[in-house]
Amino acid sequence: MLDLHPEQVRGALSSACRAPSLLNSQPWAFMLGADHIELHLDTRRLLRSADPERRQALIACGAALFNLRLALVDLGVRVDERIWPDGPDGPLARVSGGAPARPRHRLLELARAIPHRRSNPRPFLAVPVPIAFQQVLLQAAAGEGATLHLVTEPHSLVSLRTWTVDARRRDRADPERVSERVRWAEAGRSPKPTAADLRADGHRWTPTTDEVPRSVDGDDPPDGANEQPLIAVLTTVTDTPGGQVAAGLALERTLLSATALGLSMSTLPELVEFAPARDRIRCMLGTGDFPQALVRLGFDGPVRPSGRRPVEDCLITGPLTAADR
Ligand SMILES: Cc1cc2nc3c(=O)[nH]c(=O)nc-3n(C[C@H](O)[C@H](O)[C@H](O)COP(=O)(O)O)c2cc1C
Repeated sequence: MLDLHPEQVRGALSSACRAPSLLNSQPWAFMLGADHIELHLDTRRLLRSADPERRQALIACGAALFNLRLALVDLGVRVDERIWPDGPDGPLARVSGGAPARPRHRLLELARAIPHRRSNPRPFLAVPVPIAFQQVLLQAAAGEGATLHLVTEPHSLVSLRTWTVDARRRDRADPERVSERVRWAEAGRSPKPTAADLRADGHRWTPTTDEVPRSVDGDDPPDGANEQPLIAVLTTVTDTPGGQVAAGLALERTLLSATALGLSMSTLPELVEFAPARDRIRCMLGTGDFPQALVRLGFDGPVRPSGRRPVEDCLITGPLTAADR
């Protein structure tokens, strides 16, 4: 039983919606049950060219799920969380509650970090990330069953830089990808999703805020390999959709741990968007695990928060059938 006041549920969903996502697409939707919350992929909000496999969307949903878990734990709920509870035709996750639990201090600290986590594409200060901080980040990813690989070898950093430049060139040479980003930036806010809206064709453009995503405003985000900051690759043992949701849990846990330590961060998305680049990184790491996210971490001053659509717009109204997913 969740046994929460509607305002508490709203607050928890608002925390979930603070998760990072590809171009701030916020591809999640929630359905409230009598004693549970379901997380669904909002298929209207997929970026078909940049994310044809829905990989980035599933990672973002995993990140939202992690925030939801933290927010509920913060309310004293003992969270029971199932990924793909009904198989591939069901919700991505179902979260229900057990008896009240005493929240663990570490999780509370991460819950407090949710409103402060921001993607920061600016160059970071030339201050290395202390070893003790690195250990915390490794443990954060491991806590969700993933592995964070810190890339420190100069030749590996050079490889990552070369591949990133390649991937970025490929990204920008693809008119579909470029126009998709522009459409995403220009279109208006999305209406509240109905069950019918989630039907899987969903090639409608329903961005989130009137704020232009950073990667279309002309600034080249730093490629990371030139900088002092820490470059890390998050990997998972499996590359199934469930593994990608789990990668999102681990990514958000890592990013919130970094935020709690006062670190700045951004994802370096282009590289992991292309399968050949992922294969190269996988070979470079040599563990057989699958790269899911490339993160850069370091120190910098504050950056502006990005906008989010209202929680109400993320609530699914009406019954869902298998055909709606
Ligand atoms: C899976 C994933 C993919 C992302 N891809 C991109 C991207 O391609 N370009 C970009 O500018 N930012 C990307 N980001 C970062 C988002 O732009 C950022 O999370 C979003 O704008 C919300 O801002 P915030 O992280 O500061 O809350 C990505 C983040 C995630 C989690």
